[in-house]
Amino acid sequence: MKKANVAIDGFAGSGKTTVAVELARQLELVYLDTGLMYRSVALQCLREGLDAGQDAVLASLMERFELKMEVVARPHPTCRMILGREDVTDELHDPRVTALVPQVASCSAVRRELVARQQAFARRGGVVMVGRDIASVVLPDAEVKIFLAANLAERARRRSLELAAKGRHLTQQEVEADLALRDKIDSEREDSPLICVAEARQIDTTGRTVAEVVDEISGWVRCGSV
Ligand code: C5P
Repeated sequence: MKKANVAIDGFAGSGKTTVAVELARQLELVYLDTGLMYRSVALQCLREGLDAGQDAVLASLMERFELKMEVVARPHPTCRMILGREDVTDELHDPRVTALVPQVASCSAVRRELVARQQAFARRGGVVMVGRDIASVVLPDAEVKIFLAANLAERARRRSLELAAKGRHLTQQEVEADLALRDKIDSEREDSPLICVAEARQIDTTGRTVAEVVDEISGWVRCGSV
């Protein structure tokens, strides 16, 4: 029997990745973080010194873009990006990549190519896919659709902890400003803006534990409903 696909969309720092990894682990699904794919395009632009403001430049990059998504289910669900032959996953949260990615992700040629790869990846089912347009564009037929939110202060607090663990110390205000700007660009772009589709279950993760949120979602997955 084909396993369910789970689409998880939401704002930056809403807990999507943490929740998706734990959900995939518990339900033995594979997990794909589509943000890493957009980040890989941004990284390649930086490496080649390309002008990401020019759609034609990005379109030509996509024609020769060699990206492999390496997904491992056990012992812990992980998803790594192989650019050419190089595993670039650890570079994808560099601040320069994070700053550039919303611009790259606004380009239709980039989205078209990455969405096709994401849809091919999910064809056999059993995927927890995380992003901004998963329920609306990539997997409109996903059995379960989730939209995660959390207030800005909480999202910035979580992001600050992640950054501090990597040795980067930013003020709460700096992190809030960065998240708010990214949310604005992602929500206002013309092609596939971040939206909560009508049939998605909305969960506000503010003040809730990962275990609580995962339990709620896995209940819906088990009964196979939106
Ligand atoms: O999820 P993450 O923060 O890593 O995503 C980085 C950026 O990639 C987002 O801010 C957004 O601009 C873009 N993105 C997107 N569509 C997706 C996933 C990510 O536009 N499905």
